[in-house]
Amino acid sequence: MLELVRVNHMDSCYIRPIVIRGYGEMGVNPLKNPIDVYIACWSWGKYLGEEALAEGVDVCVSSWTRIAPNTLPALAKAGANYMNSQLIRMEAHANGYAEGIALDEAGYVSEGSGENLFVVRDGKILTPPLGASVLPGITRDTVLQLAESLGIPAAEAIIPREMLYIADEVFFSGTAAEITPIRSVDRIVVGKGARGPITERLQKAFFEIVNGHLPDRFGWLTPVAKNVPVAV
Ligand SMILES: Cc1ncc(COP(=O)(O)O)c(C=O)c1O
Repeated sequence: MLELVRVNHMDSCYIRPIVIRGYGEMGVNPLKNPIDVYIACWSWGKYLGEEALAEGVDVCVSSWTRIAPNTLPALAKAGANYMNSQLIRMEAHANGYAEGIALDEAGYVSEGSGENLFVVRDGKILTPPLGASVLPGITRDTVLQLAESLGIPAAEAIIPREMLYIADEVFFSGTAAEITPIRSVDRIVVGKGARGPITERLQKAFFEIVNGHLPDRFGWLTPVAKNVPVAV
């Protein structure tokens, strides 16, 4: 991945490794087929729109339920799971929203089609636990670590749908979405309908490290310029 970014002279890009079972026997048991790996990188702009990071986005609760436990492994970033994500995202778009939030099989808040979700209420940050059919996103983890270092209480918690409507702040996290404020859910305004103060603090702390303006005290960054051996 480092080599790919380096040879393409990317200042900023998204990296997408794709690992598949390749050419071989037909059938649904993949174990005899070779593992093929492709890695792509490209410059991806702002995932939820140019204004999203500062202004926030308008989202809906999806009519599609997130993949249920013991059907597909939600913890894995597996291609098959993304049929569910596509349905959530397409429905949201068709209805004029930037993104959809899926509930889990029990009806509790799960995540966006391609982002983890956080709510802020009374100064405390909550995010659905891993058992709520969420992807254990690296940005989710980043937010939890940043919150701790900033002294903002944060916890994993089961989140009922109505919490989205009475929260002070709601935001998404993700490699593509970074930290994106949500200004309305189902046309119900969240907080003051703009990026909230805790979201802004977290965003600032996130970008300071990601853009290299402050030292990376967490060990998150990998220098691309450094020549590291690449397996052939
Ligand atoms: C379904 C889903 N949830 C959450 C995330 C956020 O994960 P990460 O922070 O690792 O990018 C993604 C990212 O693609 C995703 O597809």
